[in-house]
Order: sequence, then structure tokens, then C-alpha cells
Amino acid sequence: MTGLVSIDGELTPAAEARVPVFDRGFLYGDSVYEVVRTYLGVPFHLERHLDRLERSGAALELRLPPRATLVAWIKAALRQAANPESYLRLVVTRGSGPISLDPTTAEGPRTVLLVRPLAPYPAWMYARGIAVAIPAIRRNARAALDPAVKSGNYLNNVLALGQARRAGFDDALLLDVHGRVAEGSSSNVFCVRGRELSTPPLETGLLQGVTRALVLALAPEAGLEPRERELRVEDLAAADEVWLTSTLREVLPVVRLDEATIGGGQPGPCFQAMAALFGERALAWARAAGPDFWREP
Ligand code: PDD
Repeated sequence: MTGLVSIDGELTPAAEARVPVFDRGFLYGDSVYEVVRTYLGVPFHLERHLDRLERSGAALELRLPPRATLVAWIKAALRQAANPESYLRLVVTRGSGPISLDPTTAEGPRTVLLVRPLAPYPAWMYARGIAVAIPAIRRNARAALDPAVKSGNYLNNVLALGQARRAGFDDALLLDVHGRVAEGSSSNVFCVRGRELSTPPLETGLLQGVTRALVLALAPEAGLEPRERELRVEDLAAADEVWLTSTLREVLPVVRLDEATIGGGQPGPCFQAMAALFGERALAWARAAGPDFWREP
């Protein structure tokens, strides 16, 4: 277990990091989290991730440490880790307490920050594209556990990915209970038809991905018209291109969806254009944001 862990700001080697078994994150998945990666050592759009963490916390009435404290802990952990590029997982649980579902008995937040060297997705996935299954399990309904909340309860996604992997696919795409396309197991989904770049709207019930928003904003520069609209499996199967987007994947091409071949069965030209643009802009962002991020408060 490589890496560094910060628990409420206290840094320890990953192998020695301990959280009490009475932590509600462990007992009930009663936590919120974010996954952030660095470019040039700077956590990419950290403010957007912290905005989302705060929205998730508010939705669960889970009190978070002040943002300035979280940022100070993140800086200290990144400095100490000194990785060329880092994967950062920021988890805030409702803390320990008696064994009781009642959230009012919790003793207050516990913040766990995992920092590891960034392990990018394998190059073959970008070169050849991936195969994605649509498992039987449906995305949580918004009225049950809103997928917009990035909570520590990921069983819906874990089960979907398990079904897909056992069937020999690389990843899973989840439909909502009405059969509309929602999102990937840990990614958002896009399709290209002609010049139109579509992704399901937030009303379908999905995570408001940081990468999703950036890709939508970059679309015109890549010669594409962005649209948020309801999508069905047939729309994806008939598309020229399908992509998954996430912090760790950036933009990843999908060439098979269940038994349907997408486009020509190879990553398409719009993917190539968007992936290049995204990578270039991420580095430019990091160059511009670095000095501000590292400046002492
Ligand atoms: N997952 N949808 C789900 C269910 C996700 O878990 C994620 C991210 C996304 C994409 O969001 P973003 O672009 O902000 O990374 C969409 C992270 C990477 C994870 O849990 O590993």
C-alpha cells in the first residue's frame, strides 16, 4: 500500500493509517467524497470539487470542516508526498458514534485524505476504445439516493460494474428506472452524431461531473454543438461516437455497447480532437493556477 494518508490533518504512511471501526463511513457508507487529480502538481479545479463536496455534505446534512482547513490539509499532504502527479481522494465521514442509524448521535466529521502517485488508465483503452455493458441494475432514483450526491455509498455502482466485468466488459453504463441513459459506473457519458455532442441532463439523475462541464464548455472549440438531452440506448447505439468522461479518464472512447458496435468500432475523430484539446487546456490551467494554489494564505 503505497502513498500517504492524512486523517484530520495528521499525516501517516498509507499502510499505518487507521480509522475506528465505529466510524459511520465504515458502518453505513455515511460519508461524502471527491476524487481529484493533479496536473503539474496542482489539484485540477479543486474549487469545483470542493463546491460539489459542500453540496453533497449539505444534501446529507453532514457538517464539513471549513474549506480553508481542507485546502491546508491537501497542500500539506501533496508537499509531503512529492509525487510527480497525484491521485487525491478526499473523504469526509459523519464520524464515529454509537451503533445507531440516527445521524444526530454522530460525534462530528472525520476527514481522510489519500494521496497516491497518479496511475493513468492504460494507453490501449484510448488507442482501441473500450467495451461497455448495460447491466440489469438501474441507477438509484433521485428520490431515493440522488446520484448528484457523491456519497460513500457506491453499492449501486459497485454492483453495476461487477455485473459488467463478470460478463467480460471493461465498464458499465447505467440506465435510470425509466430506461433513460444516466451515467457510467464512475463517469459521465456523451455521444456524438454529426456535429452534435449530447449528454443526459442533470434531471435524469447523475453526478454533475467536473469533466462533463469542462467538455461541454470546450465543445464549440472542437467544432461540436453541446446539448443536454434525454438519451436512450438506441441513441447511443446509432451514434458516431460514444465517450465516458471523468477526472481519471479525462475523455475515453467507447467502441462497443453491449453487442452493438459504435461508429466504425474505433475511436473517432471527434474524440481525438476533444482529448487533445482537453489535455492541452488542463496543462494551461495548471500553469496559470499553480502560483495561486501554492501561495501561503
Ligand atoms: N468518479 N459519475 C460518477 C458516478 C462518478 O463517480 C464520477 C467520478 C463521475 C465523473 O465526475 P468527475 O468528472 O467530476 O470526475 C460521474 C470519480 C473519479 C471516482 O469516484 O473515482
